[in-house]
Amino acid sequence: MLYRFYQQHIFPHVLNHVMQTPSLIQQRERLVAPIRGQVLEIGFGTGLNLPFYQQVDTVYALEPNAAVYALAANRVHESAIAVQHIQARAEKLPFADNSIDHIVSTWTLCSIENLPQALNELHRVLKPAGTLHVLEHVQYHDQPQLKYLQNLLTPLQKRLADGCHLNRNIEQALKQAHFGFNELHYFDAAGVVKIARRMLFARAVKIAK
Ligand SMILES: C[S@@+](CC[C@H](N)C(=O)[O-])C[C@H]1O[C@@H](n2cnc3c(N)ncnc32)[C@H](O)[C@@H]1O
Repeated sequence: MLYRFYQQHIFPHVLNHVMQTPSLIQQRERLVAPIRGQVLEIGFGTGLNLPFYQQVDTVYALEPNAAVYALAANRVHESAIAVQHIQARAEKLPFADNSIDHIVSTWTLCSIENLPQALNELHRVLKPAGTLHVLEHVQYHDQPQLKYLQNLLTPLQKRLADGCHLNRNIEQALKQAHFGFNELHYFDAAGVVKIARRMLFARAVKIAK
């Protein structure tokens, strides 16, 4: 019961606060500002990307957690963009094959329970000329001690942060799901605890299966 209270009434506020770390906000703007038209954002969270879409008409805001989406209300209300909340999981997307121009994931691929199934769904719904825009914290590939700690602490992190894995190799998962990269780089985000500091910034396209 206490854990349920934490998940519904405390965690959404912690998430909303932590995800506004200034170095992350800067990268959000960089990721989404060039996007035009319609966007499917998976794990919309508290709507922190919304102010940075400059050329977007409609955002399909896929967010399974109603308590988290409730904290997006003011941002949605203040935005000129049409935002349609879709309460569903990325593992089963309510969209037709090859129907979406842009998909955005910022710090969501870490939390999805069945990542291969979700990436398969992203591949299915993305148009052949569409782009998947990704900003995620990832597993260290060059620092064995931190990688070891990420593996050790992931079970605890999953409990504290609603399923978040510290140790996912997102680049590899995307390649395995038949995505190729137009842009890809790693950076260490200022103001983030070392264990979750390594970030992947990428724009991917789907490769035919
Ligand atoms: C760390 S938060 C990031 C929120 C937001 N993307 C941001 O940038 O602030 C992870 C988000 O993924 C959502 N999530 C968890 N499992 C999911 C799933 N299977 N499909 C879609 N979203 C999911 C959570 O509810 C949460 O809003």
